[in-house]
Amino acid sequence: MSETTLVLIKPGAVDRGLIGEVVRRIEARGLRLAGLKLIQPERATVEEHYAEHKGKPFYDGICTSLSTAPIVAMAVKGENAVLAIRTMMGATKPVEAAPGTVRGDLGLTIEDNVCHSAATSDDAQRELGIWFPEGLL
Ligand code: CDP
Ligand code: MG
Repeated sequence: MSETTLVLIKPGAVDRGLIGEVVRRIEARGLRLAGLKLIQPERATVEEHYAEHKGKPFYDGICTSLSTAPIVAMAVKGENAVLAIRTMMGATKPVEAAPGTVRGDLGLTIEDNVCHSAATSDDAQRELGIWFPEGLL
């Protein structure tokens, strides 16, 4: 089943010059871009994106982090794209992420864990609406 998911390259990875490496891995897997932009989002956009985490100790920090420096938002399309991308990104804590995953290869701390990716198809639909209200190619 072809589906489309949402990936964000977080500010630390953008700052470390890893946009190309992340995009390379996604394209090499056989997935395709249906949207791609470098942006510095409004805090309200990030708050809506991370609404499920409102009230948790890390919520303020991550909302500040993602709205005070450039990030990349991508729509990624392909067979089972939601699961394929989640598996490719690896565990939330980079020290627990398997080698070969984006976080296991390119991350070290949870504050700089390289990427966000939607967890489910429903989340992907909701998040794509937030980051790509103009629609996808
Ligand atoms: O990103 P993922 O879906 O793997 O993890 P999450 O549990 O949905 O958490 C969202 C993001 O919040 C993580 O990717 C981390 O950047 C951050 N976080 C954190 O800083 N400290 C935690 N204890 C949990 C999450
Ligand atoms: Mg999550």
